[in-house]
Amino acid sequence: MTEGYFITGTDTGIGKTLVSCALLHAFAANGRKVIGMKPVAAGCENGHWMDVDLLVAASTVSAPCKLVNPYALIPPLAPHIAAKQSNIEIDPTVIQKAFFELKKTAETVIIEGVGGFLVPLSGQYDGADLARILNLPVILVVGLRLGCLNHALLTAQAVKANGLRLGGWVANGIDPQMLAQKENIQTLKQRLDCPLLGIIPFVKDMNLKNISKLLDIRELA
Ligand SMILES: Nc1ncnc2c1ncn2[C@@H]1O[C@H](COP(=O)(O)OP(=O)(O)OP(=O)(O)O)[C@@H](O)[C@H]1O
Ligand SMILES: [Mg+2]
Repeated sequence: MTEGYFITGTDTGIGKTLVSCALLHAFAANGRKVIGMKPVAAGCENGHWMDVDLLVAASTVSAPCKLVNPYALIPPLAPHIAAKQSNIEIDPTVIQKAFFELKKTAETVIIEGVGGFLVPLSGQYDGADLARILNLPVILVVGLRLGCLNHALLTAQAVKANGLRLGGWVANGIDPQMLAQKENIQTLKQRLDCPLLGIIPFVKDMNLKNISKLLDIRELA
């Protein structure tokens, strides 16, 4: 099992945090020391960054905030724009150093990416550069809705084009009205060259430990 996974998704708001937390619980249930990391969080609500709080709560070990979340940006905007408005330059090597520190405290680090895979981080870097610098297997969260096939296949292509490996994918039922969900999942099973770790239905009860039982981390490639 590797020292960490980079969690990306077909878009923003499609369940990366939910799946990252569920993965943390799944690894914890296997007796592993785990920690979540959100390298760049944009959008502060009442002094809190929700993703960071959720990842911290699902981790079994703790670490200083500046390691778990090196960049906490206040505006709820694309990261490079939020950073520019805050006079901050996002530097992936700062994130890499924080990851190296987190590796000392946990056996597995679950890193939630920001937005979709190619989201710009600065004038110079994007999400794919960050994933490459961290050099971890990527887990793709597919938010099941119309259009997700194209988004999932494009993301998988970008992951591979950056020399990274897809360790697995998760089908996340964000749209309870979606038609032909099974057929969409079947299509991606055939076309994504990595194991399906689990199917999460649309859930009203956000019990992350229960949701984690839907993921089979033994399938992780
Ligand atoms: N399977 C699901 N059933 C019901 N609601 C869900 C499901 N998955 C995600 N959601 C809800 O959708 C919203 C977005 O999910 P989440 O925050 O995990 O997305 P994200 O990809 O991490 O977003 P961001 O790009 O902002 O980090 C949340 O309110 C979450 O509770
Ligand atoms: Mg999130």
